[in-house]
Amino acid sequence: MTTSLARFEIAGLSVRDLARTYGTPTYIYDSKTMGTQIESLRPFDVVRYAQKANSSLAVVDFMRHKGALVDAVSAGEIRRAIAAGYQSGGDPPAIVYTADIFDSEALELVLANDIHVNCGSPDMIDQYGDRVSEGCITLRINPGFGHGHSQKTNTGGEQSKHGIWFQDLGDSLERAARKNLRVTGIHVHIGSGTDYQHLAEVCGAVESFALQAGPQVISISAGGGLPVAYKQGDSEINIEEYYNLWNATRNRLTEAFAHPVSLEIEPGRYLVAEAGYLVAEIRAIKRMGSNLYYLIDAGFNNLARPILYGAYHPMSVASFDGRSLSEVASVVVGGPLCESGDIFTQEEGGFVRSELLPTASVGDYVVIECAGAYGFVMGSNYNSRGYAAEVLIQDGRSHLIRMRQATEDLFKEEKIPETKEETL
Ligand code: LLP
Repeated sequence: MTTSLARFEIAGLSVRDLARTYGTPTYIYDSKTMGTQIESLRPFDVVRYAQKANSSLAVVDFMRHKGALVDAVSAGEIRRAIAAGYQSGGDPPAIVYTADIFDSEALELVLANDIHVNCGSPDMIDQYGDRVSEGCITLRINPGFGHGHSQKTNTGGEQSKHGIWFQDLGDSLERAARKNLRVTGIHVHIGSGTDYQHLAEVCGAVESFALQAGPQVISISAGGGLPVAYKQGDSEINIEEYYNLWNATRNRLTEAFAHPVSLEIEPGRYLVAEAGYLVAEIRAIKRMGSNLYYLIDAGFNNLARPILYGAYHPMSVASFDGRSLSEVASVVVGGPLCESGDIFTQEEGGFVRSELLPTASVGDYVVIECAGAYGFVMGSNYNSRGYAAEVLIQDGRSHLIRMRQATEDLFKEEKIPETKEETL
């Protein structure tokens, strides 16, 4: 990762031109970076894109063209996968539904489209088994430990609602057998933004769960959670080392079962975070005592990671008129929302910090970097602000992949009830 204070281009295209063409705030994705990331995971038999990180159709379609299969966590994500060209069924299944519950729409959609189910609760096994005469499922196990970049992204251990508790694996295998369901795979995902040490612990857990499930197992999934370096100095994961660890686990299972076992990985952030930039315009610059604020036209309605987790995103500035930006200032970067937590430079717990950025003028652009994962998808319409536009850069050209949401569309699904009340 490189952090530059002044940035005039993204993937070879001028920030100023992109902002003028598409307006602000706009998410820009560099397809080359996504391509490089996916390429680095080639040794795994299956790369299954966790589209929750960025489910825009063009991004999901890009992953499909690069050979990735896809994970879906809701009826909406199943429909997105299909709309982006994934077929239902297949071996290995192109689309896998991984969740802790079925809502009724998801259950019906899974059944109607023959979508493979990765069960994260014993109840899911029963509910699915009640609707099919036989079939295959995989189980997502909570191994009793977890780790994440924040407590809110830790998905293992007692504090997490995710997966089937490891001590209930035996019971879940019995439930599956009673419903004529074969358990063909074991999946563990302990958290998002996890470090190598913790990820490595998962191998042993998956191996023992797979052995408990027996030779019906034909695939194991390492889940996602691969970290990316948001901050200079953050360590980057050594994919070769990580693969070797998992490959050794898989090889031991292949030997134990005397048949091939396929090795899946399920990253979201790793594939898209570094490819994404949120470009916003500085609309006001003001001082509050000792703090200098740049107020931009993007807020936590566009990128919620700082307010939710105190997440750090590198930032840079591009001038609106092409002038060079040489002086720097220590600034707090905030958005337009009527809420004091609407600050991009904050730590977990809401403490405001400042960032060294070029001395800028109103009309210049702030580029929030490493924003391709859990950025747009976690956006909201808070303060009645529409969703940002999204642009994909491919082969040196920019393509609008999502129009900015029109403000009038914000309330098109709403109704004022007709009442017989007298007007005053
Ligand atoms: N597989 C499962 C079952 C998951 O629950 C997740 C993430 C992933 C894969 C992908 O994890 P990744 O490779 O992207 O770390 N909003 C948070 C992250 C929440 C992740 C939830 N599950 C953030 O902005 O950091």
